[in-house]
Amino acid sequence: MKGFFLTVEGCEGSGKSTQLKLLSARLDGAGIDYILTREPGGSDIAERIRAIILDGKNTAMCDECEALLYAAARVQHLKEKVIPALEAGKLVVCDRYVDSSLAYQGYARGLGEEYVASINAFALKECPPDLTLFLNIPPDRAFERKHGADRDDRMEQLGLPFHMRVYEGYLALMAKYPRICPVDCSGSKAQTSQKIWDILVSRGVVKGQ
Ligand code: TYD
Repeated sequence: MKGFFLTVEGCEGSGKSTQLKLLSARLDGAGIDYILTREPGGSDIAERIRAIILDGKNTAMCDECEALLYAAARVQHLKEKVIPALEAGKLVVCDRYVDSSLAYQGYARGLGEEYVASINAFALKECPPDLTLFLNIPPDRAFERKHGADRDDRMEQLGLPFHMRVYEGYLALMAKYPRICPVDCSGSKAQTSQKIWDILVSRGVVKGQ
């Protein structure tokens, strides 16, 4: 495909939303042809699946159902939005992608990487990311910095031990897949944003300025 597929990953409280806003402003300023989208969601059907997954009332949802719903939302979003944009030569910036499923459902829920990879075969084989940025801050530090959670959905209700397992999952994925590039988030928001931009320049995704 002609475009470039950039995915952004991180644990709860890693500052991902803030960094994506800052990146988006910078891409706008540089006149880059891009779309910013997110998972789960990013298209009408996928957003409706998202609402089911995150609904705090769905306490009976089993882990396999959760993993399959994320995978279902992903394929729909890919076919409806991501692949057409890549074919049109755009930069696609996606807030979370298949590594979230590998870290959250595969490692932290304990379903295993093999099972989660198998139900995400379309994403992994037909549309792997060109580059994945991992906002590298352990959730215990992020939670301190954030002074508590600001959401009450099914995933955020899970507590720190779960989110620490997610973090370990990401570290294992990073050791395995060279496309996953860590971003040190220990500095200010502006410093992290600059680090992200420098990585994109060094990989030739955007031109230096
Ligand atoms: P969201 O509000 O987008 O959270 P965040 O701001 O942390 O990205 O909610 C998405 C939640 O879904 C988040 O807790 C991570 C989780 N998730 C998975 O468990 N598996 C997945 O495959 C994806 C895409 C997200």
